[in-house]
Amino acid sequence: MVATTLFGFEEIVAGELRQLGAENVEILNRAVKFSGDKAMLYKSNLHLRTALKVLKPISQFMIRDNMDLYKKIRRIEWDQYLSVDGTLAIDATVNGDFFTHSQFVALKAKDAIVDQFRDKYERRPSIDLENPDLRINLHINERACTVSLDSSGASLGKRGYRKAQSLAPMSEVLAAGIIALSGWDKQRNIVDPMCGSGTFSIEAAMIACNMAPGRLRHFGFEKWTDFDAKLLESLKKEADSAIVAPACKIYGSDIDSRSVEIAKSNAENANVGKYIEYKLMDFLDSDIKASNSVIFLNPPYGERLKEREEIIPFYQQIGTQLKHHYENCEAWIISGNIEALKFIGLRPSRKIRLFNGPIECKLQKYELFRGKKGGDQNPANTKFKSE
Ligand SMILES: C[S@@+](CC[C@H](N)C(=O)[O-])C[C@H]1O[C@@H](n2cnc3c(N)ncnc32)[C@H](O)[C@@H]1O
Repeated sequence: MVATTLFGFEEIVAGELRQLGAENVEILNRAVKFSGDKAMLYKSNLHLRTALKVLKPISQFMIRDNMDLYKKIRRIEWDQYLSVDGTLAIDATVNGDFFTHSQFVALKAKDAIVDQFRDKYERRPSIDLENPDLRINLHINERACTVSLDSSGASLGKRGYRKAQSLAPMSEVLAAGIIALSGWDKQRNIVDPMCGSGTFSIEAAMIACNMAPGRLRHFGFEKWTDFDAKLLESLKKEADSAIVAPACKIYGSDIDSRSVEIAKSNAENANVGKYIEYKLMDFLDSDIKASNSVIFLNPPYGERLKEREEIIPFYQQIGTQLKHHYENCEAWIISGNIEALKFIGLRPSRKIRLFNGPIECKLQKYELFRGKKGGDQNPANTKFKSE
């Protein structure tokens, strides 16, 4: 099987898979290959926090041209996967010089599948791009084609709790991946001070509770001909019995009252509402002091006209606020405004390249401690490392 993911999260997905008991885990580009039985396929969908899809390859072959692709797709016995009255959708990705139009490739594959059904049954399945009975994934790399069944259906990032969203929400997979990259131990408190729709705080709460991210949603494999409902039910029960109360506190706030309401209701939907304290607050103008916490910040990038002029002073103030109010904390800031990030005024101890959708971003880590790390406690010698 193959778990696909975002750029930069391959190692994390591999770690998650090993923990679930997957075998032969091998890192690819934005994907991780692994093997396991049907239970592993279901478990990976239910438990992976940082994967987008779990694909099950059914055929691999080399292709010369579009006609060859059509012929080889038509050779697969499609009625073992889909009934003639069912619906299908095809996602295609192409890399390399030989095939460059993913939509055309998807169309050719669709023709091959429906022609095979028409020949055999004089009828054909129809297309449903939104909610098909079978989602097929074609991956073409140069001349090598892999045909897979998409066991997830909708992206695994769609956990099912985000019924409403504020402006510029980040994907659940990106938030969970950043939390994983931070190496958070589930003990230190979490602060999400520009929470928007609450993605960081909700993902952190689910991690702290050991709550399976897929427990609220359905998966593509539930419509497969070999679906084992009892197996899924028992895996869901097992996952739910492992839920614990968090060992830390989680705080979320935003300057926008609508966002705070949205975050609250999303947290309720995710069943973690009681573990997160949300409030309306301007991060830059608050005298709250935190210590020994991990702060996740996804500030505006200054793309909107009215933000553009003020974005540099805004980032400067974020740095000042962190410096004066978050002693012995660790801050992780992700931004697509790499220029503005330079004005935080603190020295990052790590810089990681990530993508928020199509936007190239930097995730930067700032360690905010007084004195020498783990050493000099004399207040006379205290000095921020980053100053
Ligand atoms: C890019 S969005 C965050 C999206 C969030 N990560 C999510 O997944 O929905 C930036 C958020 O920062 C908030 N914000 C901007 N200035 C703020 C300030 N001074 N204090 C607190 N929040 C602020 C905005 O209201 C917006 O919700």
